[in-house]
Amino acid sequence: MEKKVLRAGIAGSGFAAKFHFDAIHRVYSVKVDVVGAYSTSRQNLLSFTEPLNIQAFNDLNDLIENVDVIHVCTPPVTHEHIVLAALKKNKDVIVEKPFTGYFGDGSEAFNGDTFLKEKGLEYSIKSVSRMLEAEKVSEGRIMYAENWVYAPAIQKERELLQKTGAQIVWMHGEESHSGSHSLTYGQWKFSGGGSMIGKGCHPLSAAIYLKHVEGRARNGNPIRPKTISARTHTITRLPNFKDEGYLRTTYKDTEDFAQLHVVFEDGTIADLFASELVLGGVHNWIEVNTTNHRAICNINPNTAMQAYTPIQKHFEDIYVVEKTETKQGWSSISPDEGWFAGYQHEMEAFYKSAAYGDDIESNSSLAADVIATIYAGYVSAERKGAEVLIATL
Ligand SMILES: NC(=O)c1ccc[n+]([C@@H]2O[C@H](COP(=O)([O-])OP(=O)(O)OC[C@H]3O[C@@H](n4cnc5c(N)ncnc54)[C@H](O)[C@@H]3O)[C@@H](O)[C@H]2O)c1
Repeated sequence: MEKKVLRAGIAGSGFAAKFHFDAIHRVYSVKVDVVGAYSTSRQNLLSFTEPLNIQAFNDLNDLIENVDVIHVCTPPVTHEHIVLAALKKNKDVIVEKPFTGYFGDGSEAFNGDTFLKEKGLEYSIKSVSRMLEAEKVSEGRIMYAENWVYAPAIQKERELLQKTGAQIVWMHGEESHSGSHSLTYGQWKFSGGGSMIGKGCHPLSAAIYLKHVEGRARNGNPIRPKTISARTHTITRLPNFKDEGYLRTTYKDTEDFAQLHVVFEDGTIADLFASELVLGGVHNWIEVNTTNHRAICNINPNTAMQAYTPIQKHFEDIYVVEKTETKQGWSSISPDEGWFAGYQHEMEAFYKSAAYGDDIESNSSLAADVIATIYAGYVSAERKGAEVLIATL
């Protein structure tokens, strides 16, 4: 059978744009032609498009007109605008995490530490609703680029749940590392929050996804998150924080630690951590405790390859693993980081869906549950961990 050819366009030209571009080239069931990219920073755009020999568009709408699928690889504050523009033109849209959020009132005085979190919850729910409504009347679909859903370890757990009929009773997991490289991260007006949304969305999406899978396998209905109790802290901004230069400290008005306790509709639970406080590289894992099995999904680090060198200089020009501070001694080398993280698998699934209409595992309903949970979490954290109901969208 002749492979379908789809045209892709990328909004953004930074870190995520690059890994989307690389992952697109690993899609095998569809032929994808990356037409070009658009970014508000022309210089940044050209340094992305020129080496790749793709077109640098001057205008977002122009890019959307000329492609079948649009990738949203821009800061969270811009996601809704680009998603709506793509859906309006009946294009499929692959949107990076977090789906959307609340980014302040635009005033100089806005401060992420102090604004009323109920307002953030109300606004972010409206933002999600606008996108869900737009999707309903569009021929295009929202594909929520939550790579954890497509990480091979999580997809294997999906199979275990579906084939064993297990009930998940307790999950615990984490996404943490020593801090973000993005200049907009740590400023609420661009990122919509700190560790809870920026990092916590990953294990939270995986946990909600797996409960969706469990419910669908049992009776066709996803099991949704019902309440959340959360705490947030700003450890690197404590007056007595001892800065030794290893942990990043650039968080202006966002938290650098979050703890989430989620209760699902069936009364089962998940405990998740997200922080900027962990040395030794990215720490991404989730443990799933069920009524007939227990699974530990190590996304990063894992023991696929471990290497030792007595002196760092031997590994100077070798990529080892994301955000490790040193390559000296033992390292958990990731032989193919994008594969373990699920980047190529999400692109394969999204393009297969765009070409042949397959269902999307990481869809707008999952994205909506994640945002509703996170902003209910911010309300809870403001109330020092009181239980808050999660909206149904
Ligand atoms: N899934 C993951 O593992 C993962 C990893 C990193 C980032 N992300 C997500 O990807 C998104 C982008 O993050 P990043 O690290 O690439 O940020 P970045 O700062 O490296 O790049 C952002 C890019 O967007 C461009 N941009 C800003 N506003 C724009 C607009 N209105 N229209 C078009 N372009 C615009 C900037 O010029 C820049 O090129 C974020 O939502 C982030 O959370 C996901």
